[in-house]
Amino acid sequence: MELTKETLQEIYEKIDRKLLAECGRMGDKLPFIPENGVYPDMRERNLSWWTNGFWAGMLWQMYDAGKNPVYREVAERSEIAMNEALRRFTGLHHDVGFQFLHTAVADYRVTGNEESKVNGLHAATLLAGRFNPIGNYIRAWNLDKPGWMIVDCMMNIPLLYWAGEELEDPRFAYIADQHAHTALKYLVREDGSVNHIAIFDPATGELLARPAGQGYGEGSSWSRGQAWALYGFALAYTHTKKQEYLDAAKRVAHYFIANVAATGYLSLVDFRAPKEPVYWDTTASACAACGLLEIAGAEALTEYEKPFYYDNAVRMLAALAETQCNWNPEEDGIVQNGTSAYERENEMHVPIIYGDYFFVEGILRLMGKGFLIW
Ligand code: GLY
Repeated sequence: MELTKETLQEIYEKIDRKLLAECGRMGDKLPFIPENGVYPDMRERNLSWWTNGFWAGMLWQMYDAGKNPVYREVAERSEIAMNEALRRFTGLHHDVGFQFLHTAVADYRVTGNEESKVNGLHAATLLAGRFNPIGNYIRAWNLDKPGWMIVDCMMNIPLLYWAGEELEDPRFAYIADQHAHTALKYLVREDGSVNHIAIFDPATGELLARPAGQGYGEGSSWSRGQAWALYGFALAYTHTKKQEYLDAAKRVAHYFIANVAATGYLSLVDFRAPKEPVYWDTTASACAACGLLEIAGAEALTEYEKPFYYDNAVRMLAALAETQCNWNPEEDGIVQNGTSAYERENEMHVPIIYGDYFFVEGILRLMGKGFLIW
């Protein structure tokens, strides 16, 4: 499928029809993975679940693009639920970036709502408070994991860059940069592939292990983790203009593109898993496509380089649009064949809310619509 101006407009109209139908059904609910075509309510299952912001993020993007007030109203309802998660505190962790960049901070960015700004700053302070200054990383998860850092958090640190800019306080960017340097040192490999997790002694900062995480096994290459690094380093560059971040994003991008080129520009769950069984994770290529578009917009690239990143992003989004979208407005979820982790059978080859989010962000970016939520 060629993503011309006309086909993009058609896809946009299909997204609009589908999301307005979902808005009509959702009320105050928070979506994750539909069951028999219907989203259960994550407020009942886990109000602090890490994906609970993406629905609002997608609606803010659509509101910004087309100004239909339905999107704003439903996004504001999500924000109320997420503010309650913030108030409760228990259950929140490194993923407050995903949760509050897409709710409170997005609202503030689009409408200037001061109360939303304050909630966003609370979330950023919580994230900053997770910094381990001995190992120079933001700790992942809670309870027994004080020494764990994960690549996913590269997508959370834009919350710190935002707060630092709002407050004119360099401590936030300092923490984000420290985490990014540690990720570069211990998670990004020479060939551009990425580890999911590094475990340190939290009292000395000594590296203890790099386990498999959500990928196939130790030393493998979980595709969504690669996408988190690709887009996360591109965003770190956008916020800081540090060349080492752009170089890292490009290195991971080259590795990612080389792998998806072999599978029709759709992503496997893990690029280093056995050939059989074939497990897909479309959320990874949706996220990576947005990261490639971010790289393509970097002013430090030459005019020769830019089309490489842009064209590969288009190929990934076109592959999703051509074969992976369910446009039936009566069924929840657009992008099919998302998979949360290699070993999680009950969350395999299903629509997942963040797959829809990144697909919508990518399509809007190609149309010159939407805003940088990160
Ligand atoms: N941040 C968790 C995941 O990507 O599944």
